[in-house]
Amino acid sequence: MAWQLLKIPADEKTAALLSDALMDLGALSAGIEDARAGTAEEQPIFGEPGMDAHVWHDSLVSALFDPDADIEVILAAAARQIGLAAAPAHTVEGLEEQDWVRLTQSQFDPIRISSRLWIVPSWHESPDPNAINLELDPGLAFGTGSHPTTRLCLQWLDDNIRGGESVLDYGCGSGILAIAAKKLGAGVVVGIDIDPQAVQASRDNAERNGVDVRFALPDAAPRAQYDVVVANILSNPLRVLAPLLRLSKAEIIRLGTDLGIDYSITHSCYAPDDAGRVRLIAVPPVVTMYFAIMFGRSQAGSAVRSRR
Ligand SMILES: C[S@@+](CC[C@H](N)C(=O)[O-])C[C@H]1O[C@@H](n2cnc3c(N)ncnc32)[C@H](O)[C@@H]1O
Repeated sequence: MAWQLLKIPADEKTAALLSDALMDLGALSAGIEDARAGTAEEQPIFGEPGMDAHVWHDSLVSALFDPDADIEVILAAAARQIGLAAAPAHTVEGLEEQDWVRLTQSQFDPIRISSRLWIVPSWHESPDPNAINLELDPGLAFGTGSHPTTRLCLQWLDDNIRGGESVLDYGCGSGILAIAAKKLGAGVVVGIDIDPQAVQASRDNAERNGVDVRFALPDAAPRAQYDVVVANILSNPLRVLAPLLRLSKAEIIRLGTDLGIDYSITHSCYAPDDAGRVRLIAVPPVVTMYFAIMFGRSQAGSAVRSRR
């Protein structure tokens, strides 16, 4: 047996405390997941940068330990540390060593977006060397091309970029949309992300593809007006960013029920006003849960400014 994997069902009050205590007491890693994951009661929680940690009412804490760690002693100490009367119910499984990099890579194959555009992981050969091939290593950032909203954005870019357009990709993740736009013939392309690791992954991917795209954190976003704005981002940041992006036209793609998500609520936050400008309007708080995607053109005379 290579590693010991400890699993403990916990409520929302105990889960984070327990996982922190186990890390203090020598766990190699610890995580919290939905105890109902994979069932009809599974509850998706989409984290956003800067958001307070939020866990499930029925959580499952898991922690990884060396083979020779004394799990019972450690768990008793963790329980004492967080004020539990006794060690909680738990299971311990053996976890065999694997080539984790290879395992992760094996889950990511080349993706055909259209007859001319492919997303190709950097460790794969392109199935069609004559196509526009976007070579990608997502690193720690979001954006492999496999998520349905990323694919829809890529298809939209493939259909709509004619050549020379300026493009803003807000929430660029791995840089996949910005780099695709550039490879499809866009002019000036800028990608912005709040996560420094995403900005780094995007820069690495731009270099890998030999394209000139500027990637930056929001504070360094160039003040400019763009022909095309694409934002594949959670609906709460989209809502908050509406006055910043100031789009003159917004098109929200609804994914329908295949993902079990209703995008119509998000659409309302970008509805045009009487003058045809897209304005933020009141939205029910429930939209914070959902992914949304949006395209548009920035309004004449408007600027994308950094948030201060
Ligand atoms: C769903 S990922 C999209 C990545 C990539 N554009 C794609 O289509 O696959 C959303 C990205 O938006 C970033 N993000 C979230 N809130 C943001 C904000 N307020 N400003 C800028 N980026 C943000 C996240 O860090 C994340 O990389």
